Amino acid sequence: MENKQVLIDSLPEGKLKESDYKVVKSEVTKPKQGEVLVKTISFAITAGTRAGLQGSASYAGAPTTGIVMNSTGVGEVVESSDKNCPIGSKVLTQTGWQEYSVQSPNDLTVLREGVDPSLYLGPLGINGLTAYFGLLKVGQPKAGETVMVSAAAGSVGHMVGQIAKIKGCKVVGVCGSDEKCNKLINELNFDAAVNYKDANFRQNLKDATPDGVDVYFDNTGGMILGSALFRLNTGGRITCCGVVSQYDTNTPEPGPKGIPGLLVNKSIRMQGFLVFDFADKYNEATDEIIEWIQSGQFKVLTDEVDGLDEAPKGFVDLLAGGNIGTRIVNVST
Ligand SMILES: NC(=O)c1ccc[n+]([C@@H]2O[C@H](COP(=O)([O-])OP(=O)(O)OC[C@H]3O[C@@H](n4cnc5c(N)ncnc54)[C@H](OP(=O)(O)O)[C@@H]3O)[C@@H](O)[C@H]2O)c1
Repeated sequence: MENKQVLIDSLPEGKLKESDYKVVKSEVTKPKQGEVLVKTISFAITAGTRAGLQGSASYAGAPTTGIVMNSTGVGEVVESSDKNCPIGSKVLTQTGWQEYSVQSPNDLTVLREGVDPSLYLGPLGINGLTAYFGLLKVGQPKAGETVMVSAAAGSVGHMVGQIAKIKGCKVVGVCGSDEKCNKLINELNFDAAVNYKDANFRQNLKDATPDGVDVYFDNTGGMILGSALFRLNTGGRITCCGVVSQYDTNTPEPGPKGIPGLLVNKSIRMQGFLVFDFADKYNEATDEIIEWIQSGQFKVLTDEVDGLDEAPKGFVDLLAGGNIGTRIVNVST
């Protein structure tokens, strides 16, 4: 049986290019005793995997070529000798950008019955859990406070804003186009949204946050973090989730000015986190997010691409801001 795979062919010099990847076909690897074979249904393209191609900026370690591009995906078990994971089980795992992968049952999450598998790439997957724990456990917003989030129309960002609304906060999103701003306000109920590419961004942000900012959920770092620092209230919290403004380059900028002076003067807490820090609480978060989706309080935005061959283009486009919500690549039905 044939396995189509997308390999990292070269490490990007400057911006990522489609030609940094190559599509190959090889024989499907046979699972050993105790392993299972998973057929990929779909996977998510996420900004953080670009950091993995930079090496030093990522917890993932040194990047390398000639390997399958990594991603979290959902798939169906098609060969198995494991009774907890029989043939036909739908699972969440590190499928990578390929049609088939051999997995250890310890590395699989069996999806809940009756739940749409694609939800495990968005709200019930890594990005949804990142939004949930990063906001609620690290940012700790209280009802009535102002929450600002960057990359707000992206996968993590659009979920952060919605969770903050559910918790009774005022929400201000920052994103890269007026179309995205309108969508956040009109469809996701954000109180305001500001385009960081607008020449008046700093003034527009000030106008959109008349009571200052209590929690800033930082997906971007860079200039937007620099601007947020000046809007934070005394006792404010900054959740450092990621640095997407510095991923698609070989020469990331130094951090913004004002650290630590502004943090000291306003007793601001700035804290990084990895979603895996909260792995023992994934189940309770999943229960709550499912309830929000079923009650209509939480909208799922996905942005779908069809076919494995389209993944490199889809990734380059995501880094340029082409996605709204979670970008998913459909591999098989
Ligand atoms: N800490 C954790 O455990 C954890 C886990 C998962 C993800 N993350 C982080 O979460 C963040 C969001 O990831 P995601 O997968 O949800 O990606 P995403 O937000 O869906 O996609 C990336 C978005 O970043 C924006 N962007 C690109 N270049 C930018 C720049 N120079 N300045 C500002 N915005 C820029 C683009 O939107 P615009 O049109 O708005 O520019 C693009 O749509 C990333 O930083 C990622 O590393 C962290």
